[in-house]
Amino acid sequence: MDLLIKGGTVVTAEKSSKLDIRIKGESIVEIGEDLPSFGEKVIDVSGKLIFPGFIDTHTHFDLDAGDFFTADNFASGSKAAIAGGTTMVLDFATQNKGETLKEALQNWHKKAEGNASCHYGFHMSISDWNANTKQELGEMTAAGVTSYKIYMAYDNLKVNAGIMYEILKAVKEEGGIIGVHCENGDLVNTLIREQKTLGNLSPKAHPLSRPDEVEAVAVHELLTVARLAKAPVNIVHLSSKKGYQVVEEARAGGQKVYVETCPQYLLMEDSKYELEGFESAKYVLSPPLRKKEDVECLWQAWKDNKIDTIGTDHCSFHFKGQKERGLYDFSRIPNGIPGVEHRPALLYTYGVMENRITLEQLCAALSTNPAKLFGMYPKKGAVAVRSDADLVVWDPEYRGVITAKEQLQMVDYTPYEGLVVKGRAEQVLLQGKMVVDQGKVILEKAGSFVKRGPCQDIR
Ligand code: URP
Ligand code: ZN
Ligand code: ZN
Repeated sequence: MDLLIKGGTVVTAEKSSKLDIRIKGESIVEIGEDLPSFGEKVIDVSGKLIFPGFIDTHTHFDLDAGDFFTADNFASGSKAAIAGGTTMVLDFATQNKGETLKEALQNWHKKAEGNASCHYGFHMSISDWNANTKQELGEMTAAGVTSYKIYMAYDNLKVNAGIMYEILKAVKEEGGIIGVHCENGDLVNTLIREQKTLGNLSPKAHPLSRPDEVEAVAVHELLTVARLAKAPVNIVHLSSKKGYQVVEEARAGGQKVYVETCPQYLLMEDSKYELEGFESAKYVLSPPLRKKEDVECLWQAWKDNKIDTIGTDHCSFHFKGQKERGLYDFSRIPNGIPGVEHRPALLYTYGVMENRITLEQLCAALSTNPAKLFGMYPKKGAVAVRSDADLVVWDPEYRGVITAKEQLQMVDYTPYEGLVVKGRAEQVLLQGKMVVDQGKVILEKAGSFVKRGPCQDIR
């Protein structure tokens, strides 16, 4: 059904203006002041904000963690996403050792197809680089996968500097971009051993085994290799001031470095690791939570437009039964936390409402920059004629509290339990279809795979 959305304030990465939006089928066909109705269904959104659909640049749904899979699969994760106003996720398809990229991509398509309530695309995580993998990059581009991840930590995934150099060069030639998990894995392994030798086996030892130096030294190595390869690079889930300082130095020297951070590094501190008993396992993720000065540094960086994207790194594990794998050994606690449902509300509340960032900066980091960097703009990430009608009608007056009991994420806790949120996604349109109304999902599984093109330079 064609729609006329009237009376709202349209927020883009540049400005906010009172404009009406006409939607025909899946696309926006007209934007202007006081548009007349031509018989479409009229939706009055007076007093509300309208954002281009939010894009979460970083999720792990249905990921194999050895003894079990993540708590959220595509069905639950994407439903939680759309309820919060996220109309698209970029999930990490992961190549296991011995697998081709094509096999990994097929695996992820199988997980997602027919299950997704929001749109989705895949970054490809490369763990097994060889002549065949290199050949396959062209096939990935043709299949609409133009971004990759490599890991500098985790024994089953990490690549060394020489391989990193080759991958950076090859992906650049394809017009793609690589996101890198920056922690020095050798150092992490040694520090884990050190903590265990000291008899420190509780989750409190997790941040001690992954201090900010571990991130900074990896960022430094990566950026040295990227400079040599003359390739742009995206640092994912950046958590620390020390890491950020290395980025800024490289940028000052003319290097192209994109940065993603996550809500958890903006909203929580390492005091969570002081919680009683095993409770702090709920906050075991990598990199770990940091200190006040790191949190302040990241907010300031966003305010200064130095952060490009905010993804959740949603990688949910139940506290009971899954996090408990590491009850007597912190290094066996599966790493990761949930967040895909709450990212927009958290950052609107603690970013925009606390005057740390503007509405336009929120729009840039949560929607427009991801769409540009990951090859989807202006179909996604824009409120413009010919763009897909993936829209979020945001109610700025809504007040709520985050609880595990009420969340749609299929996991038995939330790290944001009890946090007050201001504003919510009142209505969400997915290519012109109303999928959320009054904050509730009314149409499930309307999402589809988004084939992406070359990455756009946003810096
Ligand atoms: O702890 C985390 N972040 N788990 C997810 C995997 C990753 O490193 O992104
Ligand atoms: Zn990572
Ligand atoms: Zn991740």
